[in-house]
Parts: sequence; C-alpha cells; structure tokens
Amino acid sequence: MILKAENITKSFSNGQRILTVLRGIDFELPEGEIVTIMGPSGSGKSTLLNILGTLDKPTAGDLKINDLDISRLRDRELADLRNRTIGFVFQFHHLLPEFSALENILIPSLIPRKNSNLADRALELLDYVGLTEWKDHYPSELSGGEKLRVAVLRSLINRPQIVLADEPTGNLDMANASNLIQLFIGINRDFKQSLVITTHNPEVADIGHRQFEIVAGKLIQRNS
Ligand SMILES: Nc1ncnc2c1ncn2[C@@H]1O[C@H](COP(=O)(O)OP(=O)(O)OP(=O)(O)O)[C@@H](O)[C@H]1O
Ligand SMILES: [Mg+2]
Repeated sequence: MILKAENITKSFSNGQRILTVLRGIDFELPEGEIVTIMGPSGSGKSTLLNILGTLDKPTAGDLKINDLDISRLRDRELADLRNRTIGFVFQFHHLLPEFSALENILIPSLIPRKNSNLADRALELLDYVGLTEWKDHYPSELSGGEKLRVAVLRSLINRPQIVLADEPTGNLDMANASNLIQLFIGINRDFKQSLVITTHNPEVADIGHRQFEIVAGKLIQRNS
C-alpha cells in the first residue's frame, strides 16, 4: 500500500458551530490503481483529498504513506515527502501566468534540485499529450483544456507515486473532459501511476478501478 488512511475524521469550527465533514474514513491505495470519488457539493471530497495529500491534517485518525506515519514528521520532512510522493491537479489549473507551459511543468522539479534531464522529461511529457508546439506559450495563450493538460504534466514531473486530482474536469466542456479522461487512463497505464480523482462527472467516475461516494461523511464503494 502506498497510502493507508484509518478512521479519518475532520471537523471544522465555524464560530460557535462545529461542522463534522468526515466521519471515520478508512481508505487504502495500492500501486497503479485509479480511484474516483463522487459526492454532492459540500460532502467533503476536497477536504478528504487535502488530507490524503497531507495539505491538511485530520481532526482524528491516522495517515501512513509508504508505511510512514506522517503525524510523526516535522513540517520540513513532510513537505519533502509530499514533494517526492504526491502530485496535485486542481480544478483551476493554478498555472503561473508569468511562466511558459514548459517552465510551469518544471516548477515542482525546481524544489529538489538534484535531478538532471528534467527538461527532457518535460518535453517528452508535452509530446505525450501533443502539446510540443505549445511549449513556449504562456497560460493566457492556452485554452482551458490545454492548461489542464499542462497542469497534469506538472503533477507528473517528479514521478510521484500518487496523483491527486480535485475535480479536474469541473471547468471543461465534454470534448476537453473526454480528452483529460483519456490522459488519466494513459498515465495510469503507461506510468503505473496511482490516481485519486474527485468528480461530479459520471464519465470520470467510471474510469475508477474502485469508485466511491462520500455519503454523510463516510466513504461508500459504488462498484465491486
Ligand atoms: N477551512 C474550512 N473551514 C470551515 N469549513 C470548511 C473549511 N473547508 C471546508 N469546509 C466545509 O466543509 C464542507 C466540505 O467541503 P469540501 O470543500 O470538502 O466539499 P466538496 O465535496 O469538495 O464540495 P465541492 O463539490 O463543491 O467541491 C463544506 O460544508 C465546507 O463549507
Ligand atoms: Mg471540492
């Protein structure tokens, strides 16, 4: 198991009121699996993904990544583990406007510094999605679908074991959403990448080897 979450609970306090969003979630992610998570708006999909990605801490429960209990790590060690192990794709691509497509893909690789040949890998990835000709374009010169594809490539540059994608097709039309779905299937097949994808789109949910829904703070499997 790359990732193992046990009895994850998450509450937010909004002034006087305490809102419990996740109520005891158990989840394991093996290598090379696509998991999709549906659920109505406000059900806790982003909250869960942020916890699995170590961007947020659960109120209670344990999270292990590669058998390491992440609550034992210092902030610096955790940031390092996150940077090596997890790639993120968000609904709003979050590309940096002042950098080209190629430079944006290379941004996560600037942090660990040691790796060479990353520019070659970034170019290979651009070729993989047919965006070679767009490599020097700035985000403002890319369509929504192209920006999201660049954001997916950026999540892959450090060869993370896990890619977490939060409603990646939320702002795309059908054609671009299908294109992104094919890209996720491709990177899972070609790079043995584990993917956890939250979505409102049933076509995206269908690509999950395991398909879940968050219902009343619990994770329920929809297929078997
Ligand atoms: N930092 C926070 N402080 C207080 N409440 C929060 C915080 N983050 C999320 N919530 C609340 O937790 C609930 C779950 O939010 P979350 O963003 O996880 O839902 P979601 O399933 O991702 O929804 P959507 O489909 O709209 O993206 C919501 O009611 C939200 O208002
Ligand atoms: Mg969300």
